[in-house]
Amino acid sequence: MSWETSADLVVVGSGVAGLTAALAARRAGLRVVVVTKDVPEEGSTRWAQGGIAVVLGDVTGDTVGAHLGDTVAAGGGLVDAVAAGAILRAGPAAVAALRAEGAVFDGAPERLARGREGGHSAYRVVHAGGDATGAEVERALLAAARREELTVLAGHAAVAVLTGADGSVRGLEVRDADGTAGRLAAPAVLLATGGVGGLYETTTNPAVATADGWALALRAGATLADVEFVQFHPTALFTGRSSTGRAPLVTEALRGEGAVLRDTAGASVTAGVHPLGDLAPRDVVAAAITRRISELGAEHVWLDATGVPDVAARFPTVAGACAAIGVDLAADPVPVRPAAHYSCGGVVTDTRGCTGVPGLWAAGEVARTGLHGANRLASNSLLEGLVVGGRAAEDITAALAGPRRLAAAVETATAPVPVADRRVLQGAMTRGAGIGRDAAGLAAASDAVEAASAVRVPRTRAQVEDANLTLAAHALLAAAGSRTETRGCHVRHDHPATDDHWQRASSTVVLDGDGRLHVGTTDARHGGVA
Ligand code: SIN
Repeated sequence: MSWETSADLVVVGSGVAGLTAALAARRAGLRVVVVTKDVPEEGSTRWAQGGIAVVLGDVTGDTVGAHLGDTVAAGGGLVDAVAAGAILRAGPAAVAALRAEGAVFDGAPERLARGREGGHSAYRVVHAGGDATGAEVERALLAAARREELTVLAGHAAVAVLTGADGSVRGLEVRDADGTAGRLAAPAVLLATGGVGGLYETTTNPAVATADGWALALRAGATLADVEFVQFHPTALFTGRSSTGRAPLVTEALRGEGAVLRDTAGASVTAGVHPLGDLAPRDVVAAAITRRISELGAEHVWLDATGVPDVAARFPTVAGACAAIGVDLAADPVPVRPAAHYSCGGVVTDTRGCTGVPGLWAAGEVARTGLHGANRLASNSLLEGLVVGGRAAEDITAALAGPRRLAAAVETATAPVPVADRRVLQGAMTRGAGIGRDAAGLAAASDAVEAASAVRVPRTRAQVEDANLTLAAHALLAAAGSRTETRGCHVRHDHPATDDHWQRASSTVVLDGDGRLHVGTTDARHGGVA
């Protein structure tokens, strides 16, 4: 059994970028379908804690220029400052639009409260519900989606972006939980699928983060860049030696309010490591924790938030996660260790989400606009999703304003592909492609993924995800193997220094028609498509 329907725009993913784009496109008069493999609430957005980094002009001394400076400094030389400046400048309007949808932030409406996180030189992070910003953003956008009667196709995994003989997009193939295939014929597809945390045994991401957008984009002919830069959040809650899957986040905003990191021997983890100490950029803190854990043979370090006034009331999400493992955030130190958190690279786009493949756009964590470089500045991601999601909708609306391409008449694209056993893949990636990599470990991970793979046509959601993780793992390992230096989130034990040769070079990955990946480089300042 299979079915077919049509739309102007198919949005894959129901997080901040996808819903922002879908709402704007619908209001512009397009027939929009949002496809999600789970329920609409189950994306990464709702788990975001810290907030949205934005300069609204009401914090003395803070400027967009300073925010850009912090973004560039955190990004290890690979931020595209032109793209980043455009996104950051668009922040106030994007946050105003989100508030107009009904999102409520902490503080007085005319002067929102601000938090601070690693790498920020000012208190500029707006937040909601203390540490529940993502949940409020998701709530407001889903409420708007219901008001606008946006069509949402839940429980359908995206299998392939359908393209015509000329390479342009013709629609999307999906499968439901039973493996029943469906086709959405459409001249425009926006990938807003979120992250890649499912490549690793432990991640702050929800279970849906299985690198779907990377794989869909590669198979449709798009280019990935900077995919070796997987950001590990320094402080995921340590819930036990054998725990895998989603680890609750312990927001960096706690350190912004004075919480401190100590190792299991009681010493500061970041003293002498960076002038900003525990509020150094995330890659620096995560690497320092990893080193200390290894030196002491420990399983975690401690985050002591007992000195933060009203900590449980101000950080209720973290307090709840701690309580679940018997830790009182207000009275006890919290066991934390790094976990895979955010993909700084992804599908190459400009700041309108345009991928260069006619009819294919990408926005949010799946995309690589040049904002994050080698290491994302905390809380820049919700902002990017809002801004680029909105711009992508404008771009798509303009692109579809001319004569429409005939969207049907394409055969199903499902083909046999390598599909690895997920547990083996996650183990191999955790050992070989975490914080601290070397050539031998990367090669071993690649061999292990290959040995655990069988070529098959993926039919169920789990098989589709496994196929996507397999392709994404190989893309990441290839990019990480080619970057013979240490920069940002990419720490190479066999190349511990930063190499000027790579100062402005972004790695790129493409897939050829025979299923082979090719790694190259491009100037990071012009990594986005024209
Ligand atoms: C956090 O709250 O620490 C995470 C925020 C982010 O990843 O930007």
